[in-house]
Amino acid sequence: EEGLHPTKYPWEHEKFTKTFDHQTLRRGFQVYREVCSSCHSLNRIPWRSLVGSSHTVDEMKAMAEENEYDTEPNDEGEIEKRPGKLSDYIPAPYKNDEAARAANNGALPPDLSLMVKARHGGCNYIFSLLTGYPEEPPPGATVAPGLNFNPYFPGTGIAMARVLYDGLVEYEDNTPATTSQMAKDVVEFLNWSAEPEMDQRKKMGIATVVITSALLALSIWVKRYKWVPIK
Ligand code: HEM
Repeated sequence: EEGLHPTKYPWEHEKFTKTFDHQTLRRGFQVYREVCSSCHSLNRIPWRSLVGSSHTVDEMKAMAEENEYDTEPNDEGEIEKRPGKLSDYIPAPYKNDEAARAANNGALPPDLSLMVKARHGGCNYIFSLLTGYPEEPPPGATVAPGLNFNPYFPGTGIAMARVLYDGLVEYEDNTPATTSQMAKDVVEFLNWSAEPEMDQRKKMGIATVVITSALLALSIWVKRYKWVPIK
């Protein structure tokens, strides 16, 4: 059974001439850290990759250091704890899938790194999912125990309850943290995590168009110039 089709939103960062908005990525990462990270990992993202995309080196060093990581085993095979470094990956909330399921009624909160690419509908789907929980399931809908009704989730019964509520986080840039604002910010952030090279790719694309147009114009001019005496 398919879910309801998500609304198509005019995502600014999806436009060919636009890059990710750094302020949005900052807010989106804050939502991930304060809300999603208690259940969802972001396995493919090392702390360093946010440097320059949304945060400064010092900010990311400080955040990395707040976390403990295992050292490599020493000669005696002992593993110790050390503070995180920029090259470490953002830690997962659970040790393994078993622990994750045990904490979530048997359901597995999937890794979010590539979620925007992995799900049909991408940004529109995740935004709709996060903002689409009705207060009550519609009359006649059956919801299995332990599941929550969400029309956008295929099957409509989802193990994740609504997580975003107005005012849940406090943004440092004073953007009002409405449910839809947080959903938009975290979705754009998750698009960045799935495609951190997008900005670079678009800049290359535009440079390619500009350069090939210039070369084409030049070759047309040369052709006309050469053929002048013959015509
Ligand atoms: C599933 C996003 C917070 C628990 C999902 C899915 C997404 C998502 C995209 C996949 C849906 C699909 O399979 O199509 C988010 C975001 C969050 C967030 C962006 C923060 C804003 C949380 C929290 C919890 C949680 C805090 C735990 C309390 C789960 C579980 C699933 C899930 C258990 C699996 C659902 C199922 O397969 O039925 N989430 N989530 N999520 N999430 Fe979250």
